[in-house]
Amino acid sequence: MADAQQTTVQFARGLEGVIAAETRIGFVDGNLGRLVYRGFDISTLVEQSNYEEVSYLLLNGKLPNKEEYSNYVSRLKKLKYLEKDEYDLISKLGKVSHPMSTLRTVVSYIGAKDPRTVEPDVAVQEDLGLELIAKMPTIVAAINRAHNGLDFVKPDPDLSYSSDFFYQSLGRKPSTIEAKMLDTALILHADHGMNASTFAAMLTISTLSDMYSSATSAISALKGPLHGGANERALSLIQKVGVPENAEKIIGEMIDRKDKIMGFGHRVYKVYDPRAKILKQFAERVTTANKQQVLFKTANKIEEVMISRLGSKGIFPNVDFYSGMLYYSIGFNPDIFTPIFAVGRISGWVARALEYVRDNKIFRPKALYSGETGPKKYVPVNERD
Ligand code: SDX
Repeated sequence: MADAQQTTVQFARGLEGVIAAETRIGFVDGNLGRLVYRGFDISTLVEQSNYEEVSYLLLNGKLPNKEEYSNYVSRLKKLKYLEKDEYDLISKLGKVSHPMSTLRTVVSYIGAKDPRTVEPDVAVQEDLGLELIAKMPTIVAAINRAHNGLDFVKPDPDLSYSSDFFYQSLGRKPSTIEAKMLDTALILHADHGMNASTFAAMLTISTLSDMYSSATSAISALKGPLHGGANERALSLIQKVGVPENAEKIIGEMIDRKDKIMGFGHRVYKVYDPRAKILKQFAERVTTANKQQVLFKTANKIEEVMISRLGSKGIFPNVDFYSGMLYYSIGFNPDIFTPIFAVGRISGWVARALEYVRDNKIFRPKALYSGETGPKKYVPVNERD
């Protein structure tokens, strides 16, 4: 039976519709299909900006001037290197675990070695956050190399954030279109309201824990198939369908069985995810250039079937549907897709965790108790039936 206090607040499963924090960082308009970072529409940022600048914008609330930009980029470049024991751990785990598990452990390990994580004040949290943003591409690229049994490629001081990530991951410099595509994908993944992983980051920092612990929580939450893990599974579904002619039957049967189709549906968007729209355009370009049109055409047909069957329920492609295909077309294997999501999202996690901890209140919701209230009589173990 609910107590009097419990009934004064509405109960929402999965905190659906509950406002748990105030933010000036980003806004997801689920009805109009808009995503805004600090007042800028994401399509504007994708066309005119780059990941470093967007990351600065999320953290600082404004675009940097020339000097601020060059200082920020220099700091990121200085902090992006890993130490030998960190590469050794990646080598060891890379062969045996899923890249998302390796990522969680490596981020936790780097934090564990850092004495500043013991009782950080906000200024230290900011430094730790910047370090995480700088190192994340290096860590994920190294995980990709180790997981595929390849030698590490060390960071290139002259490359941009996304191009160096590409280079360290794949061992070659990206073409102009590949560089633009990856930078776009990272910008589109940088922030997205109170999604599960961002909430996990904020929840952890709200206990005044440190930024590395906060990022470890976020990575753990992102790993699940209902969140970041959907991109890997979306590609595998597209590959299973194989050709557009199979989509109607296979997807139709899955819908009839009430299976969840990965890469579709969203808690906030009831229209087409604006990020998926942009990623779809890139996916079409790159699959055409790489002679993998059948992949794109199959995905497009799956989308058509889904919208005709479930569009009236507000189910459309989300960010995870076309992103995997894009990464695959430029040479990434599926089990690295979700870590790539984390490379983009690290700026949003850090920005939101810092914004929250600057005006902190520990997260501590309640549960609606629906068990027995008793008091029941205790029966000793040898007297029970
Ligand atoms: C991300 O929150 C964020 O912002 C996340 C994210 C970010 O940038 O951080 O945008 C990234 O996580 C994208 C989502 C990736 N996940 C998937 O693609 C997995 C498949 N999608 C879902 O399981 C689902 O749509 C969620 C988890 C994304 C949203 O879940 P909700 O809001 O709890 O919705 P629900 O599961 O309660 O579904 C509502 C209805 C149900 O039908 P009914 O029972 O009412 O008849 O819609 C149906 C669901 O069965 N439905 C789907 C579906 N998604 C919802 N049916 C088939 N396939 C789907 N994908």
